[in-house]
Amino acid sequence: MSYSIDLKNVFSLKGKVALVTGASAGIGLGVARVLAVTGGATVYALGRRDAAEYQGELDAIAAEGGTVIPVKGDVCSEASINDVFSRIEQEAGGVDILINNAGTTLPKTVEETSHEEWDFIIDTNLTSGFLCAKRAFAHMKQQNWGRIVQIGSVVGHKGAIKGHIAYAATKSGQFGLTKTLAITGAPHNITSNTVAPGLVRTPLIVVAHGEQGVKDLEAQIPLGMSEPEDIGMVSLFLCTEAARHITAATIDINGGVYTH
Ligand SMILES: NC(=O)c1ccc[n+]([C@@H]2O[C@H](COP(=O)([O-])OP(=O)(O)OC[C@H]3O[C@@H](n4cnc5c(N)ncnc54)[C@H](O)[C@@H]3O)[C@@H](O)[C@H]2O)c1
Repeated sequence: MSYSIDLKNVFSLKGKVALVTGASAGIGLGVARVLAVTGGATVYALGRRDAAEYQGELDAIAAEGGTVIPVKGDVCSEASINDVFSRIEQEAGGVDILINNAGTTLPKTVEETSHEEWDFIIDTNLTSGFLCAKRAFAHMKQQNWGRIVQIGSVVGHKGAIKGHIAYAATKSGQFGLTKTLAITGAPHNITSNTVAPGLVRTPLIVVAHGEQGVKDLEAQIPLGMSEPEDIGMVSLFLCTEAARHITAATIDINGGVYTH
């Protein structure tokens, strides 16, 4: 007899093409590194920074044997997203794996947040994921295989401290986007999941909480602060064949700070 699951390769992403948004720094760059170095995927890193600004990090990934291709773009612009997808389709055939990571925050309460600021955070954190998934779906359906991971947040479960109202709304909204993409994608072998970090060592957290605020928050986390690669390693798993029956799920990576 022969088995139907190829166990030797279930954790490999060799031959797959991934797009990680917001990947010129922070969690996105960490996820790109893991998908490329550990998984063996060809990874396009969509970011606002010029490649020259993070060439050192890209060189370090290349030295580890990973292929991460920087591509400049703005996830708030549908035209820019379409340009990025068209380039990947031309160069590599299409996006097999989509990691919706780009995000930003604003430490303002409901009374302090203007309509324009609200729209900006929704566009960056939520509409971007919808637009990228919309574009990725066609290729994934055609080849009957795809993986979508949203980088959400513990805030999506429990709300935010000290304002961040628009951010919290986007992080809860990602759960609905994930689950509905999962149901729509299932007949085409497309899975869709959310990874929900707690506190991760990146530039965003100092903007969000200040230096002292970060120290105070870290002191409350049983396992301490996560590194970007902690988010990358779980995202990698969700993108492999090993996770083929995990969809519409939320995987918490918060060091035990929030249990539910
Ligand atoms: N750092 C944390 O503690 C933490 C916790 C929970 C969730 N998250 C989530 O993780 C994701 C990444 O956060 P991070 O901490 O790495 O942030 P970061 O600010 O360190 O990096 C965010 C990345 O997104 C990019 N980006 C922002 N707006 C963009 C746009 N319009 N177009 C293209 N790229 C854009 C930035 O250039 C940057 O590369 C976010 O969705 C965030 O909500 C972070």
